Amino acid sequence: MKVLVTGGAGYIGSHTSLCLLEAGHEVVVIDNLSNSQVKSLERVQQLAGSNIAFRKVDLLDERAVETVIGQSGGDAVIHFAGLKAVGESVEKPLKYYQNNVVGTLNLLHAMDRAGIRTLVFSSSATVYGASEEVPLTEKAPMDATNPYGRTKEQIEDILCDLSSADRRWSIALLRYFNPVGAHESGLIGEDPSGVPNNLLPFVAQVAVGRHERVLVYGNDYPTPDGTGVRDYIHVMDLAAGHLAALDFLKSKVGTFRWNLGTGRGSSVLEVIRAFADAAGRQIPYEFAPRRPGDAAVSYADPSSALADLGWSARRNLAQMCEDQWRWQRDNPLGYGESN
Ligand code: NAD
Ligand code: WQD
Repeated sequence: MKVLVTGGAGYIGSHTSLCLLEAGHEVVVIDNLSNSQVKSLERVQQLAGSNIAFRKVDLLDERAVETVIGQSGGDAVIHFAGLKAVGESVEKPLKYYQNNVVGTLNLLHAMDRAGIRTLVFSSSATVYGASEEVPLTEKAPMDATNPYGRTKEQIEDILCDLSSADRRWSIALLRYFNPVGAHESGLIGEDPSGVPNNLLPFVAQVAVGRHERVLVYGNDYPTPDGTGVRDYIHVMDLAAGHLAALDFLKSKVGTFRWNLGTGRGSSVLEVIRAFADAAGRQIPYEFAPRRPGDAAVSYADPSSALADLGWSARRNLAQMCEDQWRWQRDNPLGYGESN
């Protein structure tokens, strides 16, 4: 299959592009490099021993999107491109609605004109908002609590409306829980710009000495050790979920939604301990007040993905930390510092 991957230079997109190449697919990456570097794709090609066609295009440039998709052609699109910083989305909501929602509309128009109507979309467990009825099933109502999450909800609604109106569309909405880890080679991984907001990249940067200690946001939650519980999922397991979804869509029309998580929650302190074991060094931390908007507990019921796609996550927290550590140790400043 020829697969167009928007946002393919980014964290999850680069790992998924590698899996696509390894499975024998042809890959065209469309990315404006606003939160990534082309170096990620060079590494993916090195690992796969095959080439990616890269097109530097902003999804907000409607004509450029139409041209690139029209010229590339293809069988399906995996749509990762989007902005994802929750805090920034609260400060700059219009930027998020513009980039994520309008960018997606431009993509959909271009796909329709090119006759490509198979789409896998990066949604997020963030659509469940503060719901703590765990494990979360796909039937839990959408109730995002910030503009970033609402862009995901709105795009999900748009995609459902589209496939109801035109039965030629086959669409998968993949709701990721907390993606972490890196390819086991340590050659590709997450390279957040600035100070990371997410736990794992921050812990990894503490381990290499870029920050003194981890601030643990809240130790008075109603959880076994008082710290927040999340469903961390290895990025390579996540990538495999996209290939399974593409395969499923070959013979189905309509919109389908699946949680991609492990079904197992880990607390902040468990994560810090697992990372310290993986890195073989202490991770200093101190307790700080709760972070506004954080739920106490969130983890998936991933049984629909298993039943429909035959997919389940295989890697445990120790492997996530080992792989994230290898990437961080070998590339302490991400792609910027690598040789
Ligand atoms: P990322 O920032 O590493 O990758 C996103 C990529 O999209 C980047 O390479 C960026 O340059 C590109 N991009 C952004 N806006 C674009 C535009 N207008 N035109 C073209 N390219 C554009 O993020 P990621 O972690 O790989 O996330 C991928 C997707 O998964 C995003 O849609 C994100 O919202 C979603 N998601 C991520 C997480 C997570 O924790 N990482 C969790 C749930 C959902
Ligand atoms: C995990 C746990 C924090 C940092 C976010 C987005 C969500 C999705 C995934 C895109 C929580 C605690 C964190 C730190 C800490 N992204 N923590 N110290 O908030 O579950 O989800 O990323 O769709 O939309 O909201 O992930 O990694 O930020 O936090 O104690 O320095 O770690 O309080 O309990 P979160 P996270």
